[in-house]
Amino acid sequence: MSFYITTPIYYVNAEPHLGHAYTTIAADILARHMRQRGEDVFFLTGTDEHGEPVAQAAEREGVAPRELADRNSVKFRDLVKRLGATNDFFIRTSDPEHERAVQEVVQKIHDNGHVYAGTYEGYYCPRCADFKTEAELVDGTKCPIHLIVLEREKEDNWFFKLSAFQEPLERLYAERPEWVTPQSRYNEALSFIKQGLNDVSLSRARISWGVPVPWDESQVIYVWIDALLNYYTALSYAREGEDLTERYWPARHLIGKDILKFHAVIWPAMLMAAGIEVPRSIFIHGYLLMDEHKMSKSLGNVIDPLEVMDRFGTDTLRYYLFREVNFGQDGSISAAGFETRYNAELANEYGNLASRTLAMIARYRDGLVPDASLDEQLAGDLAEVHERVREKLDAVDISGALEEIWTAVRRLNRFVQDEEPWKLAKDEGAAERLDAVLCSLAEGLRVLSVLVHPYMPDSAERLLAALGQEDLSYDGASFGARGGGAQTSKLEPLFPRIEPPAAAA
Ligand code: MSP
Repeated sequence: MSFYITTPIYYVNAEPHLGHAYTTIAADILARHMRQRGEDVFFLTGTDEHGEPVAQAAEREGVAPRELADRNSVKFRDLVKRLGATNDFFIRTSDPEHERAVQEVVQKIHDNGHVYAGTYEGYYCPRCADFKTEAELVDGTKCPIHLIVLEREKEDNWFFKLSAFQEPLERLYAERPEWVTPQSRYNEALSFIKQGLNDVSLSRARISWGVPVPWDESQVIYVWIDALLNYYTALSYAREGEDLTERYWPARHLIGKDILKFHAVIWPAMLMAAGIEVPRSIFIHGYLLMDEHKMSKSLGNVIDPLEVMDRFGTDTLRYYLFREVNFGQDGSISAAGFETRYNAELANEYGNLASRTLAMIARYRDGLVPDASLDEQLAGDLAEVHERVREKLDAVDISGALEEIWTAVRRLNRFVQDEEPWKLAKDEGAAERLDAVLCSLAEGLRVLSVLVHPYMPDSAERLLAALGQEDLSYDGASFGARGGGAQTSKLEPLFPRIEPPAAAA
């Protein structure tokens, strides 16, 4: 079975912020976990470069849209690398291969009879690149997301007959109740469909930064139609000389709740219109909030992920985001919350468990993990952690899976406290027990590190190397899968404590 996971492609009208990093890390955690399970994974991310959001930003800066797109796309690509994301391809919608493939699919939608010429009249937000109904507006004329005053627009466009897909979409939702999750988002999308669907613009006449409509070069394809197709077009050219569509399509999409309607309503209808299989699933996550507001460039409250990583490291950021905010819901993040969790959980719980365990094996057994039988009670408590992590990640419950791992970290710390190996070491009659305790601790730490690897790859790898256990496969992730006998080595502290700044005099 193949596993094709995508993130939204990000607008290059501004620099990346932590909100963009969030979805990319989430997709990376799933991709890494699935690779551990031996799945054939393809992970896609990239940038959305056409349309008004970018054209207007370029105009404000006095540069050509392509120049802005080139400049900012590199920043998104660099961020992806810096986050440690293992994407298999980075798509840019200005790639000529993408543009050609978009034209082909749009031509097919046209030839299948789902396109007509019409006139759009209403409100349009150039930052969202979205048409707004009057009911959606705030204070009568403002975009509900960007809070900017919108103009009424009138324009001759090509239209996509979305209304013709009302019934097929309702059927899709009825037949596949889990195709959009969480359930609340499924309900939201379905009720939007049931209210009755209006046709949507498939092209724009007034802007030129985009992919030309194949049968009418005076218009460009509406940026959302162009952008959504990235998930499909990428597979046709990500590998030179190879078309990966058969191998990986359909995709699993990960998106933020701001773009639910496009993905859960318009996108499947477009695919049906083109005769292409609809996505396997869509998971919708919530917002990262700063002081209770969505972190967004237009609200001016963004955090630069690079700064956070410079200060605390990549793994720490990856961990914090999925620990602090329950994936799927909105949640606030803050520097103070970050430091608290870092010290309490990474430094004191996981880091400390690792350094104590390795130090005791070094001191009492010359660094060799004793080949002993495992503590039965501990084995019972940890027996199913790997399965629970797997189930949670299958349900895209990224925070839930991390919570399972953390419960086990705490269980191991309790084991150390209860067993007091330093006392056993002083008692010659307790040598066998000490062997069992040290072997159990090393095995527990190994299992947790394999399971936490998708979240904190560098730290987990360093720890596993120090344990003399480099196998990352999920097959070996059950407690007791490996015995003792490994030679351990020294490990620099994984998460040195952050000391509070000295109080001002
Ligand atoms: N270009 C479109 C998406 C096209 S996909 C075919 C777009 N781009 S965007 O740059 O605005 O990125 C939106 C996505 O970034 C959200 O759906 C979400 O994945 C992520 N986030 C941006 N800000 C966020 C938060 N404050 N919190 C969580 N995720 C955020 O929309």
